[in-house]
Amino acid sequence: MHTQPGGAQTDQSIRHRPVIRGRAGLIGGLAALSGILFGLDTGVMSGALDLIAQEFILSDFQRESLVAIMLLGAALGVLCAAWMSHAWGRKRTLVLTAGLFVIGPLLCAEATSFHMLLFARLLLGLATGATTFTTPLYIAEIADSGRRGAMILGYQLMISCGLLAAFVSDGLFSYFGVWRWMLGIVGFPGLVFMMGVLFLPPSPRWLLAQGRERDARRVLIELRGLPRMVMAERNAIMARLSARRDGIGSFMRDPNCRRAMWLAVGLQVAQQFSGINAVLYYAPHLIGLAGYGHYAQVWGPVGVGVINLLSTCVATTCVDRVGRRPMLVAGFAVMALAMGGQALMVAGGIPVMPGMRLLMGGFMLLFVAAFAFSAGPLAWLLCAEILPLRGREFGMACSTCANWIANMLVSATFLTGLELLGADRVLWIYAGLNALFLLMVVLRVPETRGMTLEQIEAELMRGTPLRTLGGQGHS
Ligand code: GLC
Repeated sequence: MHTQPGGAQTDQSIRHRPVIRGRAGLIGGLAALSGILFGLDTGVMSGALDLIAQEFILSDFQRESLVAIMLLGAALGVLCAAWMSHAWGRKRTLVLTAGLFVIGPLLCAEATSFHMLLFARLLLGLATGATTFTTPLYIAEIADSGRRGAMILGYQLMISCGLLAAFVSDGLFSYFGVWRWMLGIVGFPGLVFMMGVLFLPPSPRWLLAQGRERDARRVLIELRGLPRMVMAERNAIMARLSARRDGIGSFMRDPNCRRAMWLAVGLQVAQQFSGINAVLYYAPHLIGLAGYGHYAQVWGPVGVGVINLLSTCVATTCVDRVGRRPMLVAGFAVMALAMGGQALMVAGGIPVMPGMRLLMGGFMLLFVAAFAFSAGPLAWLLCAEILPLRGREFGMACSTCANWIANMLVSATFLTGLELLGADRVLWIYAGLNALFLLMVVLRVPETRGMTLEQIEAELMRGTPLRTLGGQGHS
């Protein structure tokens, strides 16, 4: 049996308790349902936008506002959730946001004016942003290290499911031209999520930070089983909690904390500036650019969604075996090549021959597959893993907020960029950015596979160079 810093046993022995592991998995799965709502609520607008614009006679600026307001709301939602999940706990924050996931779609469906719609999208943005902060944090805190990777990737899997469902529903409802249904139907999964989160236990790490020793132990027993192991885990958490004071101060004083935070922010910015949401949100436009007709533009995004989902599934099975670093290296390398391939083809003239069009579509799908195998899930996972416990809320707030702001920048500039610079130049820029991110991964990203959060933190705080992390402490 292995021993962690702080005297905790590693999770090898937990693997012998399938029932308990199943319960932790179920709890993580329930929390990860918020990912479906993230995917649905961000994806559904692309198909509804034209119809809304017709009904309310919107200008281009108003159309862009409808997309941007949700991303802005999400960035604000992250900040609210950071405060709430610290003061009220992760579970209560999730319950509250679940309510918004029900109210938001209902308001959208009933909107009598553009401004009401704008307000409803803002609420949905707040909820989505809040869960992108709270869910990975909560899952990382209830999961055992052997399955933490797979459980957080389960969250990304749900996001991919949500996006696919949004693309399918957009495709179907587009035949009836009913945008109110497109936006309103999303309230049903919101309701399911709301009922599910009521059954979640509070995070044991949060309970211990609040001094609620007995409650924390009860939840740990529920999650892990053996009281002997629970004590060891509780001791390890307490050791890390008492190591330093809370919040921003840790980052101001401690260069090791800052190092972890900058890496988390860098990973989230890299995830967004890979260009994924330009491809997802404007898939019909890009498919048109590749020379395909109307039918492909309506249903092509569904193909993109399927590849996104399948590749996330593959990542889920690989992450705790292959490790984070090799997957990220492969992912950014392939994304750079796929973007470069598309840029080359566009520079050589829009492909007119069917074979060339297929190749162009193939590059696009390859890009999405590489993203879903690497930066998509792993940016969320690594952020939940590398940020030190006492300052984790602050670090996650910064990195998640960076993710939404970067998302907004990419989404708000992509189409304008295509027009001002030309598609080939824009695609070259994204190819170059992905090559840069590849370098960042090689030089900076640690391997955290199989380590407990406490082990990762102990190594980081000892000043172990990030790149060499993972080769130690868990022999
Ligand atoms: C990640 C990104 C999100 C993107 C999704 C695609 O979760 O954070 O912006 O839309 O992957 O699957």
